[in-house]
Amino acid sequence: MPEQQQIYKVTIDGITVEVPQGTTVLNAARKIGKEVAPPAMCYYSKLEGSGGKCRTCLVEVAAGSTKDPRPMPKLVASCRTEVMDGMVVKNVTSERVIDARNGVVEYLLINHPLDCPICDQAGECYLQDLSYDHGVAGTRYEFKRRTFVREDIGPYIQLHMTRCILCYRCLMVADQLTNTRSQGILLRGDASEISTYISKAIDNDFSGNMIDVCPVGALTDRTYRFKNRVWFLKPVDAHRDCDKCCGKVTLWNRGNEVFRVTSRKDPWGEVQDIDGKAAWICNTCRFEKKNTSDWVIEGPTAIDRHSVISTNHYVEKVVPSDTLKRVLSGREPMLLMDINKVSQVNTSDIDLSLIPGPATSTTFIERNEIKDIEQAAEERISINDHKKLP
Ligand code: SF4
Ligand code: FES
Repeated sequence: MPEQQQIYKVTIDGITVEVPQGTTVLNAARKIGKEVAPPAMCYYSKLEGSGGKCRTCLVEVAAGSTKDPRPMPKLVASCRTEVMDGMVVKNVTSERVIDARNGVVEYLLINHPLDCPICDQAGECYLQDLSYDHGVAGTRYEFKRRTFVREDIGPYIQLHMTRCILCYRCLMVADQLTNTRSQGILLRGDASEISTYISKAIDNDFSGNMIDVCPVGALTDRTYRFKNRVWFLKPVDAHRDCDKCCGKVTLWNRGNEVFRVTSRKDPWGEVQDIDGKAAWICNTCRFEKKNTSDWVIEGPTAIDRHSVISTNHYVEKVVPSDTLKRVLSGREPMLLMDINKVSQVNTSDIDLSLIPGPATSTTFIERNEIKDIEQAAEERISINDHKKLP
């Protein structure tokens, strides 16, 4: 007869929850909700063996169990510590935890640049959120920071190692989702870095999922880099028939253009379980299906109101009345200029989502116009030079 699984009671920040034996403190806290769940930068429930690297999930165990109610002397990593019956845990209610978490964030930010304004991960970066909650304005670090040259690993992914926090999630995707692991952590200590062996390109069908699991902007989508900001896009759930993956994705649209395709995420930022399985998506769906016609749209993706992505995405919106028309008794206002007509950036025949790489001035200006501009500049320089002659 199979042994019956025991149910344990654990109290986290004063809220008691019942969970099966073998559940970690982190997952018990997630069962209660976001308010008490510790942050997790390296743990990822869909990746076997993840966790235990970053220490952002530290908690205080105020009582070990009903049988042995002594507190644990040190803070413990909640993603790696299993609950005991009668355990009492403190997360946000513990000053020691908050102090330790501030320290962990300070460590993570020693080498991680605060380049959020130009980072594609901004708006959906867990380190950015953590630094808002636990970061300080200055740094005590006086030594040279480690920096790396950006590296294209394969046709679709760019590695910006300077931003990597060595959480190992991408390696686990490579190990567990693809049949060829061509990536690893080289060297030790502060010289550690993710690298592909002899710059071998990661070109297997599920490599794009590394972008989704990366908690920071170290691995970015080369087909989307610098093309838009995540809060300007509108996420919608969509699906297609795919022979490699479940084909259930989130499209990130602006107007009718599909700027990027990602897997669907759960409230913890992890890939959703669909039909009882983690819904990882293949590279064809992610990188090669950038037309709305490739997809069956299901509807808007539910967005956490806490996230900046929810900005301007109103539900049940009420369109305000047009004040100008009202005061002008229905007449259209006289415009000094119509930005849609005068700006070449708004040229409708250029799909920013489809051009290779980010847009530059040459994307919008015809080649011969650039020549005219360069010629005019040269003429100006030669006239100025001429004026300087004695
Ligand atoms: S590249 Fe991203 S996912 Fe990989 S170890 Fe670094 S931070 Fe983690
Ligand atoms: S999430 Fe627990 S140590 Fe990183």
